[in-house]
Amino acid sequence: MPIFRIEEVVYGVEDTGEAARFFTDAGFAPLTGSGGVQRFRTVENQIVTIRPVDDPALPPAVEPGSTLRELVWGVEEAEDLDVLAEHLGTAARRDGDTLRTTDPNGLALGFRLMARTHAPVHLRHPNQVDHRSRINARLTPHGAAPVLRIVHCAYNITRARNEASLDFWCGPLGFKAVDKVLDTGTFLQSEGDVEHHNFFLCFRPDRAGINHIAVELWDFDAVMEAGNRMIDAGWKESRRPGRHTLGSNVYRFVHAPCGGRLEFVADMDRMDKDWQTRVWEKNPGHNIWMIKSSGPEPTGAGD
Ligand SMILES: [Fe+2]
Repeated sequence: MPIFRIEEVVYGVEDTGEAARFFTDAGFAPLTGSGGVQRFRTVENQIVTIRPVDDPALPPAVEPGSTLRELVWGVEEAEDLDVLAEHLGTAARRDGDTLRTTDPNGLALGFRLMARTHAPVHLRHPNQVDHRSRINARLTPHGAAPVLRIVHCAYNITRARNEASLDFWCGPLGFKAVDKVLDTGTFLQSEGDVEHHNFFLCFRPDRAGINHIAVELWDFDAVMEAGNRMIDAGWKESRRPGRHTLGSNVYRFVHAPCGGRLEFVADMDRMDKDWQTRVWEKNPGHNIWMIKSSGPEPTGAGD
């Protein structure tokens, strides 16, 4: 039953024009839209769909305003959908090529065969003392680096639904807890993935709704440049850039007009099936490091 990755995120938004501008500025590739529906793709062919907040085609919202309305997961084989359908039983229904259900928090979920395209590896070659991997070559800005892939969704839940949520995600859906932080939430990895997490159930805000979607860029420089580009375009940063403690990725967060935030990431940990769940009594802290500045602190860190 290998759920491999996030295949599509569907937002219901109050201002589709602003949301479309946001995803274009962030480096998603626009696809042809119709009837007020706008769609974007990553290099690895995951889809962001934007619909008007009152579009009757959308599943019910768990919070008011612009927010995530459906999270669709990609599976590797058609038979995987049959196994998932069996595990979910009457809680799931077939809807064309998609199997649909709802998680204990009211978040609408879909599952379908993934349509992956592979992003070519794009590495910069570092120099350090006598290790010289870049000779007679200068670095230049990445410029408008594309969004390679959506790597995870962080979802806020109520504390009361934490155990039921874990039972659901780690039960019929087959996710594994990579890091379980007893005062914050659980970093989950789907069976087909090696990413440190591709779903995070966060109960610290103690309310249900979207926290953020994270997208992978080439490297540290691309993440820093993307944040600068978003600020230049008028979008607001929600926390200072840094490198996370759990996951080890560098990050920049910006507030998103579709609800929650968008996180640009690079260089995240990969955990294979030998990894044993680590349980933390207390949150070990957000950052290995974070940019310090004498300027005002960004607001709305979100977790
Ligand atoms: Fe994240």
